[in-house]
Amino acid sequence: MQDKYKIVKILKKNKYLEIYWDDNHISKFHFLWLRDNCPTAFHKDTRMRNFNILSVSRKIKPINFRFTSKNLHVSWSENNHNSIYNLKWTRDNCYTEKNLQSYKSEYQLWNAQFANKIKLIIFDYRKIVSDEKELKKWLQVIYSFGITIIENAPTKKKSAFKILDKIGKYRETFFGTPFEVINIAKPNNQAYTADALPNHTDLPYYEYVPGYQFLHCLKNDADGGSSTAVDGFAVAEYLKNKEFKKFKLLIENEVVFKDNDYTQKNIRIQKSPIIKINKNNDYEEIRINLGAMGTLDLSPNIMHHFYEAYTFFYQQLHNKKFQIEFKLKAGDIFCFDNRRVLHGRTKFDANSGNRHLQGYYIEREEIISKLNYLNGMKV
Ligand SMILES: [Fe+2]
Repeated sequence: MQDKYKIVKILKKNKYLEIYWDDNHISKFHFLWLRDNCPTAFHKDTRMRNFNILSVSRKIKPINFRFTSKNLHVSWSENNHNSIYNLKWTRDNCYTEKNLQSYKSEYQLWNAQFANKIKLIIFDYRKIVSDEKELKKWLQVIYSFGITIIENAPTKKKSAFKILDKIGKYRETFFGTPFEVINIAKPNNQAYTADALPNHTDLPYYEYVPGYQFLHCLKNDADGGSSTAVDGFAVAEYLKNKEFKKFKLLIENEVVFKDNDYTQKNIRIQKSPIIKINKNNDYEEIRINLGAMGTLDLSPNIMHHFYEAYTFFYQQLHNKKFQIEFKLKAGDIFCFDNRRVLHGRTKFDANSGNRHLQGYYIEREEIISKLNYLNGMKV
């Protein structure tokens, strides 16, 4: 059997070593990259790089090199330095190979049909807090689908902190943590009324919008008040496939989001596209919230076309073929990626009972870094 981690031969080229592996793969490792990644470049306790790349010249090259069944040995032309690289590490970090691989999104998109598979995203509170395997599974699902519901959580106020503490640090905002979703007399936000809320992402007027949102249901015995959710990435994908010109307008132009909450002595203004994509053309973020839309100031040449695109997208974000609807019960924690999944609710009758949720935010990177840790990632 061919051995991926076995070297057959090494050729020295002008700026790199060419390594021939037993499975026929050929890696190029540039001299500066190799020297920069010598295992001695990292402090053994802090695990931080303490090698200064300016301590060698750009002309550094191997004066000697050899391989064994386990390691690659290189002697350098400067500072009398020798490096020993573990072959598994070397091959696992082969950038020749990584750059040949095509990009694969980690997101699984969903639409209204997802309601039939809802069990996939339902988790038990007690299992998550007591079993690391279940914690990992839950984080994997929430990262991939952007949505989960945790059942059987305690209904004591602030008790969802226990779940956030399992992941990392929560994200603070001016609404406080947790923030209360309950109807109040002189509301400073639509969420604090008994009105229906169209699907939206929270806090689009922040430069860096909070990643995940956890809505912990303490009480929900009023008539109405069902939750709605829609995968903004799935709707953006639909737009890209069906109405590419509209999609392009939404990724290329910035809208204005604003907040001038009467309880705050801040006025927040943020410009951002409604759909953000990354360099691999994968989705990074959806930002949309009718209540927080400022006044658009696009060129008159595109204003009408932009409104056509924006309203079409907003309409699809409420289309029954994309949206799921469910009623939270006391002890449920509705967790979703606030930079991907829009949430809303149907109106409720405040005279028929109580509806009280407590909300928390935690960044997407907290979820990802905990997953890296639980997956035993080596860096
Ligand atoms: Fe919200």
